[in-house]
Amino acid sequence: MNEKLYSKITDALVNDGYIIIENALNTDLPKKLLNYIQNQDDFKRAGISSSNKLHLDNTRRRDSIKWLDEDNNAQTDFLAFSGGLQEYLNRSLYLGLSYYEAHFAIYEEGDFYEKHLDSFKNSKNRVVTTVYYLNEGFEQCDGGELIIYNENDKEIIRIIPKANTLVVFMSERFPHEVLPAKSLRHSIAGWFRVDKK
Ligand code: OGA
Ligand code: NI
Repeated sequence: MNEKLYSKITDALVNDGYIIIENALNTDLPKKLLNYIQNQDDFKRAGISSSNKLHLDNTRRRDSIKWLDEDNNAQTDFLAFSGGLQEYLNRSLYLGLSYYEAHFAIYEEGDFYEKHLDSFKNSKNRVVTTVYYLNEGFEQCDGGELIIYNENDKEIIRIIPKANTLVVFMSERFPHEVLPAKSLRHSIAGWFRVDKK
């Protein structure tokens, strides 16, 4: 049922390495996921890992996260989409993706994520990144844009994190950053990996 979407993403990853899709999934899914988040009280300040130790460095990253599980229908629907994409990518590109991990992220006013790579070259863990946004009625004045750079650190595109926009890119190829949010910003960042869980 998602075959068309999967094939569009796959083609883009092969040709450009990234894709931005507005109105990507079911129209009600962002609202259901947001509703779930709003009832959770165990979001934790995110960390940056350095030399295997997780430490909180709020000069580089300031957001709060909670890992997804199969706790309710909204998360299960989202994970069904990503599971299908994983299979499709493995079938068509032989990527050998072994699992998908994803977390919700909340950026409060002023929160940001400095320019970074999700995976270092040849580290062989995170291979494909997904970001999915949940913010109804978000506009440029709400800040929190995602900026994607190319391999020469040149800006390629700026994305407004509007509800139901999906971004997919090759994790090792694209530095990216989240500009300071001016309104409460909700997203799901996820990664297809090739290592063992
Ligand atoms: C990340 C990330 C981007 C976003 O969590 O690694 O880059 O737009 N998130 O939320
Ligand atoms: Ni990232």
